[in-house]
Amino acid sequence: MQFLQKRMNIINGLMLIAAGTLVGCSAGGNKPGYEYAPNMYESEAYEAYTQVGEMKYNPNGMTMRTPVAGAVAQGQMGYTMYTEGYEASASWTNPVAPTEANVAEGMRLYNIQCQHCHGKKGKNDGGVIKSGQYPPPPWDGYQSETIKNLPDGKAYHSITFGKGNMGAHGNVLSPNERWKVLHYVRSLSLGDDFVYAAEETKDKEVASATAMSFEGFELVDIGPDLDMINAAMRNVHFNGMQYKKFEEQSKPHLDKVAAFMTSNPDLKALVVGHVASDMNIPGFGELSLIRAKTVCDYLESKGVSRDRLSPKGKGSTMPIDTNDDKIGKLINRRVEIYFIK
Ligand code: HEC
Repeated sequence: MQFLQKRMNIINGLMLIAAGTLVGCSAGGNKPGYEYAPNMYESEAYEAYTQVGEMKYNPNGMTMRTPVAGAVAQGQMGYTMYTEGYEASASWTNPVAPTEANVAEGMRLYNIQCQHCHGKKGKNDGGVIKSGQYPPPPWDGYQSETIKNLPDGKAYHSITFGKGNMGAHGNVLSPNERWKVLHYVRSLSLGDDFVYAAEETKDKEVASATAMSFEGFELVDIGPDLDMINAAMRNVHFNGMQYKKFEEQSKPHLDKVAAFMTSNPDLKALVVGHVASDMNIPGFGELSLIRAKTVCDYLESKGVSRDRLSPKGKGSTMPIDTNDDKIGKLINRRVEIYFIK
């Protein structure tokens, strides 16, 4: 009898385990089922990048946010700057006239962006180099034959994208400003041999920045404000999860564009969106137009009437840089503004 009782206990026990297993297995759809010893699945200490439910300030419910695109971990930057195109750039020539005013503006910008390394007179004796903490360029100064023989286009390329230990300056100087700085570098390099142009000399037409027509529209020459507008638009970024909206920090830059349009009520604007080639995938078809419209909406909210704003989407048909790496794609992903009457 006792033996039978024992057998029944064992059978009951087994049935209980079986029932428990069945209930536990009823997982599916949105139900994870029962978790036995949940600590085995979810760590007590939150792990970076795991999802732990909704949070007000973190729409993806992640413990830690993913680093911004292009972030580099400390110590991981091998200092390989953007070299593609350096050789080809040798054929570019300086489109800005070397008038005294342009060279003086170049000097002003040089003293802000360059002299702490290259020195006031281009002798590589700026504070940063003199401190001994930073390796100097492999030539003596701008007066060296190396720099005198360096084609303008290559110098422009290095100023834009950086070279060796010199960082990129394309993000702090507009194309026009970079060419002006280069004139000043040349004036330091050549000294008395530097030839100034007469003050009334016009800049040669720069294909992208001052194109006089776009898609059959005749563009209005807005003079020196063009640099300000282009610089503002280069600071309008569309990245991350909310890929249809520009990032919050773009707003002060768009505010400048809105203020410019408010004080120039005769002007209308073509607002042209472009995407990098990786956005040419189903579902992203009209993204460049959507982004252009987002910019128009914002300008309208700042008092620019809608009938002055025409959004256009160019997809990835007008790249201004390579689509083969991250920096190129970042540059291609942009919204531009062209002014018409
Ligand atoms: C942090 C220091 C630093 C700053 C700031 C800096 N440079 Fe340089 N620059 C260097 C170094 C180092 C090199 C040498 C790069 C190499 O060839 O490895 C260099 C190289 C150059 C060259 C030669 C490029 C070539 O193709 O060989 C030019 C021209 C130049 N710099 C101009 C400028 C101008 C103009 C600015 C300001 C807009 C500037 N640099 C800002 C450190 C700096």
